[in-house]
Amino acid sequence: MFTARVPSLVPNRWAQMLVAFPPRFDLTVSNPTLVGLPYPPDLLAPLAHPRGLVYHPAPAGLASARQAVAALYQAQGLSVRPEQVLLTASTSESYSLLAKLLCEPGEGFLVPQPSYPLFEHLLRADGCRAVPYQLPEEAGFRLDTSRIPYHEGAKALVVVQPNNPTGTVVPSEEWEALVKLCRDRSWALVADEVFWEFPLGAKARQSFAGNPHCLTFVLGGLSKLLGLPQLKVGWMVVSGPQDLAAEAFARLEFLADTYLSVATPTQQALPEILARGLGVREAIRQRLRVNLELLREELQDFPFLELVEPEGGWSAVVRFPQVVSEEDLVCELLQERGVAVYPGFFFDFPHEGFLVVSLLVLPEHLRLGLQAVGQALAAKLPRP
Ligand SMILES: Cc1ncc(COP(=O)(O)O)c(C=O)c1O
Repeated sequence: MFTARVPSLVPNRWAQMLVAFPPRFDLTVSNPTLVGLPYPPDLLAPLAHPRGLVYHPAPAGLASARQAVAALYQAQGLSVRPEQVLLTASTSESYSLLAKLLCEPGEGFLVPQPSYPLFEHLLRADGCRAVPYQLPEEAGFRLDTSRIPYHEGAKALVVVQPNNPTGTVVPSEEWEALVKLCRDRSWALVADEVFWEFPLGAKARQSFAGNPHCLTFVLGGLSKLLGLPQLKVGWMVVSGPQDLAAEAFARLEFLADTYLSVATPTQQALPEILARGLGVREAIRQRLRVNLELLREELQDFPFLELVEPEGGWSAVVRFPQVVSEEDLVCELLQERGVAVYPGFFFDFPHEGFLVVSLLVLPEHLRLGLQAVGQALAAKLPRP
């Protein structure tokens, strides 16, 4: 009776254990609203303004909201006009609109691996496929254009910068080659930059927003930018060769018009919320910096654990010696020590031996959780 767009719903072993053994220290929390960040209590007051009592359907978004989003990019020196911005109800919805725009059933997007596990489900739900390309481990999980394979039926190439969970960005020496590859192969470039405003390194980086050289969609949203996933506001910045970008935008607008999913009061309040929310963004940055420093310190006590240095984002990857499988380790940590961490295989790392932790969690939880991870592994290592 049902389509294969919905995968098996049987929870995996770890997810089942999460219910049986609720963790004391949950190092997987990536919901910013649950980690004690200082949100001003009246941050969402602009939503209650009486102007929201009148409905203004606007498929690409209200002009004032698009202007406010364009201004975010302009403030970074990027050439983005409000007319290039299309509002969506989330980055997930942006992906869904892009799949509808670019893919016939069975076609797909090239997606990085390791990366965000939702790609496969998002694309499958639209009758499309996620075709993985590797971020090579020997290059620190950074994109290497020369190793991106040709794939029949691929319509777009997705890059995530900073990537979830490795925190890597597209290396500067790859930018030109990547754009050329997309142009030569008639792939759209989809740059998921939801974590862009959370850099953790000092390396040069470049947003693809406004890139005129190939059809480009840059994705962003409030869920990460201001730590407000509940507002359901995302966007796409559409650019490229002029006629192609204009055609893509008009077609996206048509698709968006069939749903009109971004609430009018939210759009009206967006400029004000963006201005009021900067303090939250700063608090998130501060939390990430504190936690990354703490992680480095804690790992000194466990020299067999190695941090994969992130250049940005909300997560960190730790390599551990393969004396136990990822699944056995994360289940044992839950059951025996009350600590939740993600196994690397959730993110399709090329082999076993990785754990992923959120850098958003309370620092005290991170410290105690990491100590538990270190102690659990130390007990398994062969004695010298
Ligand atoms: C790389 C990446 N893109 C998109 C999203 C989801 O964003 P949204 O809440 O706007 O759908 C996430 C959430 O974790 C993510 O990691």
